[in-house]
Amino acid sequence: MNRISFIKRELPYEIEEEIKTLRTNIQFCGEDKKVIMFTSCISGEGKSTTALQVAMSLSELNKKVALIDCDLRKSILISQVEEGTVESGLSHFLAGQCKFADALYATNVPRLAVMFAGVVPPNPTELLSGERFKKMIESLREGFDYVIIDCAPIGMVVDAAIVAPVCDGTILIIESGIIKRKFAASSKAKLDRTGTPLLGIVLNKVDHKKDGKYYGKYYGKRYSKYYKKNED
Ligand SMILES: Nc1ncnc2c1ncn2[C@@H]1O[C@H](COP(=O)(O)OP(=O)(O)OP(=O)(O)O)[C@@H](O)[C@H]1O
Ligand SMILES: [Mg+2]
Repeated sequence: MNRISFIKRELPYEIEEEIKTLRTNIQFCGEDKKVIMFTSCISGEGKSTTALQVAMSLSELNKKVALIDCDLRKSILISQVEEGTVESGLSHFLAGQCKFADALYATNVPRLAVMFAGVVPPNPTELLSGERFKKMIESLREGFDYVIIDCAPIGMVVDAAIVAPVCDGTILIIESGIIKRKFAASSKAKLDRTGTPLLGIVLNKVDHKKDGKYYGKYYGKRYSKYYKKNED
């Protein structure tokens, strides 16, 4: 297996606590919830950020974790790589252009392996609906305690609805103040129709000064200040 290093980020205590709460909630969903998909209504609500942090956090508990970037249309996970070259990813593997072992990378985070999306294919939906994808998830299930899947937004493209049936549970990320109630409900309904249980909703980018009353109802997150500071 090839190896990469993720950029090391010290999360502020407050944010780490939020991620730990989400991790605990996932664990309490039951031992049978191993393959977990993250999706959202639209782009940019925080799926990839949250999926990566949760995957890292689970690996800290001595769990073997595989993080799979299934957002074949738009992947930013690769921007988190500090060292190492990524040559192959999920799209290469699904199109039969590389072996499974060449698409999965060991990382500098103990017990965390990652598969990047690979080049944007012309037919992402077809690739994700194929037998090869199903079999890949089954073999990851054997080799890892958790498989965290970062998927495209269910409110925009069909991919997440195709991926959900091979997962044990889904998590819907909702960006606070951006998504209308009706849109959130229709995205949730799409997830419900897949038959895979929705484990929870993450209300992300919460402005606690403005919207304190929502906090506690969902797995609230307080990333905003930290990320704003880092983007300046
Ligand atoms: N809680 C948060 N507070 C503030 N900024 C955040 C938070 N979570 C994520 N972000 C920022 O929002 C942007 C989008 O996040 P991210 O890439 O994780 O979203 P995404 O849902 O995976 O998007 P896409 O659908 O485009 O893949 C990034 O710049 C990220 O740093
Ligand atoms: Mg993303």
